[in-house]
Amino acid sequence: MIRIITVVCLMVQALNSGSAQPTFSKDVASIIFNHCTTCHRQGEIGPMALTNYEQVKNWASTIRYVTSNKIMPPWKADEAYSRFVDENYLSSSQIKTISDWVNAGSPLGNASETPKLPQYPTNSLLGTPDLILPFKRSYVHKGNGTDEYRYFVIPTGITEAKKVKAVELRPGNKKIVHHSLFFADQSGKAKEYDNKTLEYGFSVNDNADFRVTEVINHDQFPGYVPGQKPRNFPDGLAQILPANSDLVIQMHYAPWSVDEADSSTVNIFFAKENEIIDRTVKDYIMLPFNLVAGPLSFIIPANQVKKFEGVYTVPADISLVGIFPHMHLLGKNWEVYIENLDGTKTNLIKINDWDFNWQGAIILISTK
Ligand code: HEC
Repeated sequence: MIRIITVVCLMVQALNSGSAQPTFSKDVASIIFNHCTTCHRQGEIGPMALTNYEQVKNWASTIRYVTSNKIMPPWKADEAYSRFVDENYLSSSQIKTISDWVNAGSPLGNASETPKLPQYPTNSLLGTPDLILPFKRSYVHKGNGTDEYRYFVIPTGITEAKKVKAVELRPGNKKIVHHSLFFADQSGKAKEYDNKTLEYGFSVNDNADFRVTEVINHDQFPGYVPGQKPRNFPDGLAQILPANSDLVIQMHYAPWSVDEADSSTVNIFFAKENEIIDRTVKDYIMLPFNLVAGPLSFIIPANQVKKFEGVYTVPADISLVGIFPHMHLLGKNWEVYIENLDGTKTNLIKINDWDFNWQGAIILISTK
């Protein structure tokens, strides 16, 4: 018995030493191309491209650092708690492969074994859109080093309600487009706010009377973040775009040092005639008013860490499609779960180190 164990150990050691010298072409390129190049390529939000051996080698030790410390890829949901369709994190063996490769001097290996870079279409990632809604003009985001949240209002021109499968943003200027949220507005209010100034779009600051609840707290569609592929809703599900509605886009432009213009486009995909839609997707925003301790308890005294707990009782038999926790700079962490009728608990999402800058990366859609 003991002898068998020894043999097994020796074999494992032999295997380990055989694979201790990973190469770019055989081991590392596939990890980088599958997990990093959606953002780290020309024109995307990553500060440098990681699309070939030379580029990756130049950044090797920083890559070892950011992957070992789980800073990159920026995936904030705790993978031990729950899993998501478009999750993007590295396994511990992938992290070790990168680290072993860097420690070994970042060898290329046999160049011909390098996998091909994924295709990144410049148009839609989902096919031919049924409705294309471009900005009417471009908008200049000032290079004054501050974040800007700007609303743009685009008439949809549709005269009957439509069943939407997906909404896709084609960002005009990927350097500055940090995220965008989409809402349908039937009230005409958003257009009214837009018309108050000559500039294209409006900001909340232009409109002292702007009430976020009037325009954007209902009929929200899944949003856009850089590096994330848009998704069709699962079979049988669609979200209704009401007749005669305007699409309201909330754009978050990142702080930038020089003026940059953006003119983005939204692609909308409708359900095919023959798809039976038996459930419609609704958005629900749980504001702090549902706190267990009452809405007035939402106060954080100076120099304290406070925990807030909220409960939403689901009124009907539903399927959960996605979840998008949102906080600003004071937030620290999240845990969201379902208390089932039989007393069991279903984990939804846990974020251990909330980061305002990476919140976008966790808009999630599950197909379960
Ligand atoms: C969702 C987009 C996205 C993905 C995916 C992503 N990155 Fe990044 N990365 C960024 C952005 C944006 C920055 C700069 C801002 C920051 O550091 O937070 C950055 C910064 C970095 C830096 C630091 C650069 C510096 O100037 O110090 C490294 C190194 C890096 N990424 C490597 C990677 C690697 C390796 C992967 C894949 C394992 C990856 N990134 C995946 C967007 C991304």
